[in-house]
Amino acid sequence: MDGGCPSTEEIKAIIEPFGESALRAKRAGFDGVQIHAGHRYFLSQLLSPSKNGRQDEYGGSLENKARLIIESYDEIRRRAGEDFGVFIKLNSTDLDEDDEVFTSCRYLCKQLADRGIDGIEISGGYGPFRPSPLFPYKESVLRDDAARIAKDVQVPVILVGLNRTPAVMEEILNTTDIEYFAISRPLMHQPDLPKSWWEQAKQQA
Ligand SMILES: Cc1cc2nc3c(=O)[nH]c(=O)nc-3n(C[C@H](O)[C@H](O)[C@H](O)COP(=O)(O)O)c2cc1C
Repeated sequence: MDGGCPSTEEIKAIIEPFGESALRAKRAGFDGVQIHAGHRYFLSQLLSPSKNGRQDEYGGSLENKARLIIESYDEIRRRAGEDFGVFIKLNSTDLDEDDEVFTSCRYLCKQLADRGIDGIEISGGYGPFRPSPLFPYKESVLRDDAARIAKDVQVPVILVGLNRTPAVMEEILNTTDIEYFAISRPLMHQPDLPKSWWEQAKQQA
């Protein structure tokens, strides 16, 4: 490692353990795994033009920026098999000033969909969204990005980030190709929230 930047060999060494850990998860009884390529962690940084300045086969072109994730996906699939769920969570935006992540996100989603990934979760920034001048509060904040991706791919797209009310999510379900919603912080406050939404919907029907 040189100044915090992994060498090409160090990057290649990541691929095999991805496959090994998926296989271990399968043997332990899990139904699937999700590759975390969002929230500005390492895989996420590779996809960002402003954060990936590599000169080797993992930097530069779209193909190169997506390469490690695709190689890791292929290894997971090879080791864990076709009957194991493989998902990815990735950023459509890093929510910073020089943000051009959408193009690589879209490219990668198409590649992974063609290879048979089971679902794609569209996220952004560091994960838990907080309102800021650059980024004011908006419910289901990444709906437009996720809807564009969902139009492109034939696999389920999951929207995460400030999903808060059933009416808004229902409207998204009815007007886009987004199929699922992930919710995090509301469930910390109220773990039975989906059940209470379900009860309310039954009463209104
Ligand atoms: C305390 C906390 C821990 C989190 N840990 C993870 C994590 O390990 N992996 C992940 O993909 N997202 C993680 N997230 C992000 C959430 O999964 C989710 O993407 C984000 O909070 C936006 O959804 P929300 O607006 O419904 O909270 C975490 C969020 C919180 C608040």
